[in-house]
Amino acid sequence: MDIIKKYTHNEVTVVWKPGLCIHSGNCVRTLPHVFKPKEKPWVQPEGSTSEQLIDAVKKCPSGALTYTIENKNEPMEETPEKIKVNLIENGPAIVVGTCEITHPDGSVETRERRSSFCRCAKSANFPFCDGSHKNV
Ligand code: SF4
Ligand code: FES
Repeated sequence: MDIIKKYTHNEVTVVWKPGLCIHSGNCVRTLPHVFKPKEKPWVQPEGSTSEQLIDAVKKCPSGALTYTIENKNEPMEETPEKIKVNLIENGPAIVVGTCEITHPDGSVETRERRSSFCRCAKSANFPFCDGSHKNV
């Protein structure tokens, strides 16, 4: 089962799915006093406003970070009319939008919002990127 971690501060809960993280570092660069990969817990939202947390989460390219707002049930962002694919130089193909993935064994899974597909074939989490392209 996929691991899901939650970090709540005031009305915002930051949700992290480590299995989707491609280690881009966008979160760390945006809010270094919140996202501290060398500390435990690595997300320390105290001291940030809700807007700052939401802004940082929206910069996560992989969908590993999402958020919920207490008492609100609205989507993080509009689902695009067209599926968008962003090719990262020497990195993954990031698909923006909900997609249904059929694996070689015939199993089907649905990924919402964003998915990062490995293009270097070195990911330990193939077909999804796990950041291993940085070592290739
Ligand atoms: S993929 Fe998301 S959670 Fe992982 S380092 Fe990048 S911004 Fe942070
Ligand atoms: S493209 Fe990221 S691990 Fe292959």
